[in-house]
Amino acid sequence: MGELQGKVALVTGAGSKEGIGFAIARVLAEMGAAVALTDLCRDLETPGYYSLPTYQDLEERARELRALGVPTLAVKADVTSMESVADMVKRVLEELGPIDILVNNAGGAPSPGPLHAMDEGAWRKTLEINLHGTFLVSKAVVPGMIERGKGGSIVNMASKAGKVPRPFAGAYCVAKAAVIMFTRVQALELAPYGIRVNAVCPAQIDTPLERWSWELEAKVLGKELEQVRREKISQIPLARLGRPRDVAELVGFLVSERASYMTGQAINLTGGQLMIL
Ligand SMILES: NC(=O)c1ccc[n+]([C@@H]2O[C@H](COP(=O)([O-])OP(=O)(O)OC[C@H]3O[C@@H](n4cnc5c(N)ncnc54)[C@H](O)[C@@H]3O)[C@@H](O)[C@H]2O)c1
Repeated sequence: MGELQGKVALVTGAGSKEGIGFAIARVLAEMGAAVALTDLCRDLETPGYYSLPTYQDLEERARELRALGVPTLAVKADVTSMESVADMVKRVLEELGPIDILVNNAGGAPSPGPLHAMDEGAWRKTLEINLHGTFLVSKAVVPGMIERGKGGSIVNMASKAGKVPRPFAGAYCVAKAAVIMFTRVQALELAPYGIRVNAVCPAQIDTPLERWSWELEAKVLGKELEQVRREKISQIPLARLGRPRDVAELVGFLVSERASYMTGQAINLTGGQLMIL
């Protein structure tokens, strides 16, 4: 019997086959949880942004996990809209049951640039997806967890960029730093209810989002993409890029009983790049 048998998990931003969200959904399903996979499904129209998953992609991901023998559900939802989030949570409750595990993974950094020159819309959008989205989904899920009285576990996707400044990614850094503080405050507020809240701070995980950021860097600095990739790897003590599965394994641990004494933490997953923060 899987460790998460009988639990229901909701993972946002889980539509991309190569993304962190789907890897997390897979690990939770392998651990026996019923999993709701949700994603914006390609409405984030930003010129030059990388290709986001469609609803068909999301359904395909849910089907893949159903083959593991657990109930799954694909729900198109925009984490920046309270209405959309409320509809999403309602469907999960109706079709899978009360939510025990929430993973706020949806994120992104449309139109990065120097802070003084950044488009106001891109600034707002970046904060909305990464920070506001985490707030809205938590707001929709947590009251049910409290009311049920059976505890729960929440993992918020932060980033190394929430601890260490990264030029031209100011809005993203600010949003992820705020996600870490959101996690800590919420961990204190929810500890009396047995609900644990932790954040994960990855860096250089080989996903469409990360590869797109290298492409931008290569363009701005006039370098070859392969050179940027090699430089990134050369800065990682473990000398390889992270895999979405690396992040997913940590999330699987955090939401399990094995981490029952951990809350309010912002855990680095950086191949050794970040040690003292
Ligand atoms: N790849 C890395 O190295 C890295 C490092 C640190 C943090 N992260 C974080 O990990 C998370 C997953 O990133 P990824 O690298 O797998 O990229 P990804 O693009 O594969 O995943 C992000 C997903 O979020 C979805 N999304 C965007 N806006 C949304 C919205 N408004 N509502 C619902 N879904 C929305 C996208 O459609 C996409 O499927 C993000 O929060 C990202 O900031 C990634």
